[in-house]
Amino acid sequence: MSSKRILLIIGGGIAAYKSLELIRELARRGIGSRCILTKAGAEFVTPLSVSALSGEKCFTDLFSLDDEAEMGHIQLSRSADLVVVCPATADLMAKAANGHANDLASTTLMATDKPVLMVPAMNVRMWEHAATKRNVATLRGDGVTVMDPDEGAMACGEFGPGRLPEVLAIANAIENQLDRLTGPRPLEGHHVLVTAGPTREPLDPVRFLSNHSSGKQGYAIAGALAALGARVTLVSGPVALAPPRGVDFVPVETARDMLKACEAALPADVFISVAAVADWRPAISSAKKLKLKDEGQTLPSLTLSENPDILATLSKKRKNRPGLVIGFAAETHDVESLARAKMKRKGCDWIVANDVSGDVMGGAHNEVALVTKETIEHWPRMDKLSVARQLAERIADKLGDPGRDQMAAE
Ligand code: CTP
Repeated sequence: MSSKRILLIIGGGIAAYKSLELIRELARRGIGSRCILTKAGAEFVTPLSVSALSGEKCFTDLFSLDDEAEMGHIQLSRSADLVVVCPATADLMAKAANGHANDLASTTLMATDKPVLMVPAMNVRMWEHAATKRNVATLRGDGVTVMDPDEGAMACGEFGPGRLPEVLAIANAIENQLDRLTGPRPLEGHHVLVTAGPTREPLDPVRFLSNHSSGKQGYAIAGALAALGARVTLVSGPVALAPPRGVDFVPVETARDMLKACEAALPADVFISVAAVADWRPAISSAKKLKLKDEGQTLPSLTLSENPDILATLSKKRKNRPGLVIGFAAETHDVESLARAKMKRKGCDWIVANDVSGDVMGGAHNEVALVTKETIEHWPRMDKLSVARQLAERIADKLGDPGRDQMAAE
């Protein structure tokens, strides 16, 4: 029996046949699949082919007394490291988003205490429908990982996003999640403080200064650190993301609130300052909504005050300075030299330098260089989750072997 196992829920769609390929691909990678086939799924593939490929009984009916005696649906929902829904139809996602539990698949999704990965496949109009968008957002907010479908020609003759991603890409996503769930936990016992997102600096009760930071990179880093066993405190400005599983989440608005929350979270072994902290705030924040023109009939003018530099403040602490302090440097030109100057000015130990001249802010990808006091590592362009995992692993290496950077430089 494989040591890593998934519970695979096969929904009813033309892409269901690809779940058979997925079972084989996972088996090749040493990952076992126990399967639930929905009633609609059984219109596309048979329980016999599913059980022949998975080497196990295929579960189909919630109210089968035999199945319930052998393995109840609660036990089934807990019997794997990860629950994967593939293909995840619009109907299955709607049920899961709204807490329905009227068949084996939906009941299992409600009862599970394991992470859930959904792999959608449906007609482009169904994928783009407002109801599906709402359901996907709800599921993501609930901590479910929903893969983005591929774009291309569909079985129904239309074109667009909605195709099941390639089987190899699905298997990679499953393997990544399983590695994180069942892999080594080198950061166990370490506390890491992460800031993320923008800050909002109020001008009056309805207006603020802020920036375009989406929080994606900081949230991915917090999640990757937690996956390696760290206790993570994530202090975040307002973003449209759900905090990753297992992190201590502290929502804040302004730079000054963020600094206070960070100081309250110390001591920490590592501090990673990913937030796009607003450098300035309005010098006066009016308690009342400002009017278009004040009584003197002149437009209000904006005077700014400088915000505290959270990274520099924590880097320069005498007491409770985290052992490893990492800043980000968002630059549009001379990325490396400006990053080095920034590292010196702020007193941090590493800088993750990224070129934000392209689609980085709000986008899914990032191309960074890790600048330590002695070295520079250029990492290839990759998605923000991969940047996060690589950084978390690099931090784990550093904590496990503090002399590593020195040695690399010699
Ligand atoms: N940072 C911070 N507090 C601030 C401003 C920035 O903690 N008030 C942190 C960011 O989280 C990041 C690093 O400092 O880790 C660099 O941010 P960046 O915006 O690149 O630099 P700035 O200090 O704003 O300098 P400049 O905009 O002049 O490049």
